[in-house]
Amino acid sequence: MSAKLIDGKAIAAELRQSLKQQVTERTAAGKAAPGLAVVLVGDSAASAVYVRNKRKACAEIGIESFAYDLPDSTGQSELIALIDELNGRDDIDGILVQLPLPKHIDDDTVLDRIRADKDVDGFHPENIGKLLQRRPTLRPCTPWGSIDLLKSTGEDLTGMHAVIVGASSIVGRPMALELLLIGVTPTICHSRSGDLERYVREADIVIAAVGIPEFVKGSWIKPGAIIIDVGINRTDDGKLVGDVEFEAASQRAGWITPVPGGVGPMTVAKLMQNAITTADRPNQ
Ligand code: GUN
Repeated sequence: MSAKLIDGKAIAAELRQSLKQQVTERTAAGKAAPGLAVVLVGDSAASAVYVRNKRKACAEIGIESFAYDLPDSTGQSELIALIDELNGRDDIDGILVQLPLPKHIDDDTVLDRIRADKDVDGFHPENIGKLLQRRPTLRPCTPWGSIDLLKSTGEDLTGMHAVIVGASSIVGRPMALELLLIGVTPTICHSRSGDLERYVREADIVIAAVGIPEFVKGSWIKPGAIIIDVGINRTDDGKLVGDVEFEAASQRAGWITPVPGGVGPMTVAKLMQNAITTADRPNQ
């Protein structure tokens, strides 16, 4: 078998096009363009690329982005003070703080400080709690975008078993909640799950989100399975690879996302969708 590609780049472009239309309609109706603050702390090259892509998407869609590029030496209290200021500003609807933050700053303390109704990443405990309670409001972008990619296959997903490799707060855990909403049965594997191969072999859907290059072996894949590869890892020779052995997995899977051009563009497009939602203050 040779897997069909799930073209995240094209699906994300289509979503951005419809979001652009929504923003055009908003502004034609006399409303202000949605405003998104994009905060980058430190000098990670990878984060700089992600943030550039997010700002580019804002420009394309008609969302006004406000750039806050802060040095690595920024203190936690300084960052909190900025969040407080942005929380109070009427021209800023959404706030994005790019992760990871420098080691001397506690991610949770900062993310918890962002007003829940400005939380375009969907990471705030209130938004995660609402997703858990089956009333999603602002949804974590990568899991939400991955659902769109699964649906794009046209397969009947109901009743399928999904194995999520990686239990992070920003991907693995919310991914399980998103899958439950569409009638899929999720299993979350983590570093202590033991015999990972045993789980993956059972999976109709594999969501790989561990951040380890080619960690999920192609030989583990159940014939016909759908593979969503969230990983983006740079190898020593500069190549980008996912968390799944792409070539070997493609021989067995029914569908697979490429890296790059799979999940990455969907994360950005879903962030844009959330940014438009924040302009209507969904939690108020
Ligand atoms: N770093 C890696 N992924 C993400 C994401 O989805 N949002 C933010 N803010 N930072 C990230």
